[in-house]
Amino acid sequence: MADAKGKRDKVILAYSGGLDTSVMVHWIQEKYNLDVVTFTVDLGQGEDIEAIRQKALRTGAIDAIAIDARNLFVDCFVWPALMAGAIYEGKYPLATALGRPLIAKLMVDAARQFNARAVAHGCTGKGNDQVRFDVTFQTLAPDLRIIAPVREWKMTRDEEIAFVRQRNIPVEINEENLFSIDQNLWGRSCEAGVLEDPWVEPPAEAFAWTVDPSKAPDEPAYVVIDFDQGKPVSLEGKKMDGVALIGHLNKLAGAHGIGRIDHVENRLVGIKSRELYEAPAGVVLHMAHREIESLTLSRQAMRFKSIVAQEYADLIYNGQWFSAFHQDLAQFVLSSQRFVSGQVRVKLFKGNAFVVGRKSENSLYSKSLATYEKGDLFDHDAAKGFIRLWGLSQQTQAQLQLLKGGKGFELPGVLTDKRPE
Ligand code: ARG
Repeated sequence: MADAKGKRDKVILAYSGGLDTSVMVHWIQEKYNLDVVTFTVDLGQGEDIEAIRQKALRTGAIDAIAIDARNLFVDCFVWPALMAGAIYEGKYPLATALGRPLIAKLMVDAARQFNARAVAHGCTGKGNDQVRFDVTFQTLAPDLRIIAPVREWKMTRDEEIAFVRQRNIPVEINEENLFSIDQNLWGRSCEAGVLEDPWVEPPAEAFAWTVDPSKAPDEPAYVVIDFDQGKPVSLEGKKMDGVALIGHLNKLAGAHGIGRIDHVENRLVGIKSRELYEAPAGVVLHMAHREIESLTLSRQAMRFKSIVAQEYADLIYNGQWFSAFHQDLAQFVLSSQRFVSGQVRVKLFKGNAFVVGRKSENSLYSKSLATYEKGDLFDHDAAKGFIRLWGLSQQTQAQLQLLKGGKGFELPGVLTDKRPE
């Protein structure tokens, strides 16, 4: 592809600096005749993105971009997901799934800035990540061509190594990785290798953010988390921005062995896959957030919100971040959080987090209604009439249907011939 003046068109390539994406810098130039601009984002994965940028230039990119998007990631992706209670299949706090739409959006911005005609990523053809990238690209910029070399080239690792050797591409070939890893500040995922057998216990090498719970300190640690309208704003009374707060909590909870998740999950593309996650801060914050909600939301709001949480998690997992449906759910979630402020006290001990205290200025908990001691304001007499009406329809149905003809009451679903008299 080239323009009228014979200059080559450009592609923005999501670049991690590993073997795959280094091969891509050349492969795309050769196969598609495009100039490659690499794009690397810091989402708190703990890598030196400037070093990766330099590496891209050495590897043959005509330009290389590195962006620190950690604050944007937390404020616009992680916190909304936390407030929504979005956890996929009740287990996965969605770190990777939240990162992809942001990376894709920033790549579209870069494509506009560089007047590029295409975008490229290194996702395989059987994962969720390709879906998240491609759907975001096609939503935000349907004119951009999407190139996914790994989906196309079908090279083995050895063939990739031969490819870089032939062309003298300066990339250090590390030992073959035991696992496939992805990480950002909200969590780390680990898959493949021995983990492909769901019966095999994850070996110690699979973990990087958490200590083995049996080796965690014998003394528990306590941490107080402050929420303001659903958002965590301080730890131990110390105000900090989201990036710092999550960083601190990852270290603290990880040191107590908290945040290990072993999940056989349902991928969008129809397969089950066994994934190991570490998300110390994610696990603690979701737990604490649910707790401050339990104090400040009505029963009805909590119930409805748990339905929203599932939909929210699915849409994140399935690559639909940039959808009208998401905007609608996000409005509900935001509104639901207006009284969700207060403190939660969490105990961290040998792989487990326990909420041991919670308080809020907006608390719906009334001691004088709940107490069994002096000062009880609950109207016990009112209970009697309430219960008569609450049970009325069930009582009526029993008389008119279930007990008709002098039959006894059939116990539903009891797998025995013996019935209580
Ligand atoms: N299964 C998780 C998800 O779909 C994690 C994916 C990790 N991606 C990776 N390229 N290793 O969000």
